[in-house]
Formats: sequence, C-alpha cells, structure tokens
Amino acid sequence: MSTPALEIKQVSKVFIKKERAKRFLNKKKEKVVALSGISMSVSRREIFGVLGPNGSGKSTLIRLLSTLLLPDSGTIHIFGHDVEKEEFAVKRLINRVSVDAAFFKKFSPLENLAYAARLYGMPIRQAREKMRKIMLRLGLKEETFTSPMENMSRGMQQKVAVARGFLTSPTLLLLDEPTTGLDPYSKRDVQAFVREIREAHRATILLTTHDMEEADRLCDRIAIIDEGKIIALDTPQGLKRSVSRRNGQDATLEDVFIELTGKKMEEKEQDK
Ligand SMILES: Nc1ncnc2c1ncn2[C@@H]1O[C@H](COP(=O)(O)OP(=O)(O)OP(=O)(O)O)[C@@H](O)[C@H]1O
Ligand SMILES: [Mg+2]
Repeated sequence: MSTPALEIKQVSKVFIKKERAKRFLNKKKEKVVALSGISMSVSRREIFGVLGPNGSGKSTLIRLLSTLLLPDSGTIHIFGHDVEKEEFAVKRLINRVSVDAAFFKKFSPLENLAYAARLYGMPIRQAREKMRKIMLRLGLKEETFTSPMENMSRGMQQKVAVARGFLTSPTLLLLDEPTTGLDPYSKRDVQAFVREIREAHRATILLTTHDMEEADRLCDRIAIIDEGKIIALDTPQGLKRSVSRRNGQDATLEDVFIELTGKKMEEKEQDK
C-alpha cells in the first residue's frame, strides 16, 4: 500500500488569547482550544472536505498542514514527510489557497502570478502561458489580467488566488473556502477545475467549505468538525444515511450538519 497523501495523528492546537479584562491591571489570558486530538488520513487523489461551524478549527487545521503553524502535540505527515522535521520537503508538495490571500494590490494579476512563478522557480514563458489558461478557464476576462488587483471585485481576486494555487500543480492542494463569495457560475468553474486538477495532475485536494451542496457534489469523503474535534467522517452518502429520513425524504448534507452540530447547541443552551 502506498503512503497516504496525508496522515494526521492526535493533533492538538491551543491559542492563548490576550483578553483585556474589565479591571485595568488584571490582564487575563484565555486559552482557546482550536483543535483537540484530531486524527485522520487522506488517500492519494482523494477530494476531501472539512466542514464545521465558524470557529470550529478548519482554517487552523489547514494552517498546520501548510506548515504555517506548528501543532502543540501530535504528528502530521504529508506523503510520508513530517511537517515539523521536513518542512521544506512538505512545502514543495503543497499549496494553500485561502480567502485571506495576499497580493500586491497595485500590481495586476499577471504581475502577481509572475512573482509567484519566480518564487517557485518556473520559467516565466511557461508560467505566463499557464497563468492565462487557468485564468480564462476560471472565467476571468482577458482585460482584467493587466489592470491593478485593487480594481477587481473580491470574487475576482479570489479567482486569481485560486489560479495562483494551481500554478505549480502541487501534489496536495489545500483550499480554505475556495468558493466562498463566488457567484454560482464561478463556483461551478472552480469546482470543475478542482476535479480537472485531480484527473490531470493526480493531485489530492483538501478543502473547507460552508456550502453543503458543494461538499456533497465534490467530495469523496467529508469530516465534520466541531469545537476542534472530528464528530463524523464518512462519504457524503454514508453521512446522509447516518441521519434519519425527514418526512419520508432522504436527508441532505445540510440535515446532517445541523443534526450533528446543532444538537450540542441545544444541550449547551440547557446547560446555562
Ligand atoms: N492566531 C490565533 N490566535 C488566537 N486564536 C485563534 C487564532 N487563530 C484561530 N484562533 C481561534 O481558534 C478557533 C478556530 O479558528 P479557525 O479559524 O480555525 O476556525 P474556522 O473553522 O476556520 O472558522 P470559519 O468557518 O469562521 O472560517 C477560533 O476560536 C479562533 O478564534
Ligand atoms: Mg476558516
């Protein structure tokens, strides 16, 4: 059996939040458990979705996988490489696309992508050709390629971020909410593109989303996390089967999400 694309064992991450207390001198440090004992494994060429309410730890998980953060405990292996001990090997295999993608706003998409290509050591001609193809494929208009990024809408900028993520055809692509804020057509463009990348480049994709329909359509398997813990992990079909039918109708992934993450909210309310 080949090494999995991703192997996470008992990973935890705690943040210390500096809270300004009501009384001056008394600065209170609050701990936020972002992830608590996460274990999971993703196979090569899988499209794996991570779902969860706001603040459940999804982006933290992606930051850990992309070596931007270190786990407090536990281990993460990417194609057999330890993210802590073999950071550079890992960096060569991954790319992260997130909603907070940074660009030089005064420069055009092509200039920004050329900068990224240079960082990756791609020949500029080859990179330019590829960039144009990807941007057109994502539905960006030719005339936007050369005007400053600051003149583009948020959704358009996000597409440039997605294009940048695909530029080097990484083996593991980490997409943090790649379609949030995109119109329905653009969402489908990005989704179709994710599938293409998997087929054409044998890539593995891990993505987070708040769009249940997207997760259902796109993902081979899904993990639902809540308060830093995995509360369910299965295929979309398996997850939907695990939840009882409503009014004789099959459960949707949204039903699953609400049933699994919502129940606890009721309990919490009662605890008060
Ligand atoms: N750098 C940080 N410093 C302190 N706390 C943090 C930091 N990053 C994340 N957190 C906290 O960790 C928890 C998980 O945050 P995270 O961004 O991973 O959630 P998320 O699942 O991505 O949420 P969303 O769906 O809103 O994007 C939150 O309580 C958040 O406030
Ligand atoms: Mg997030």
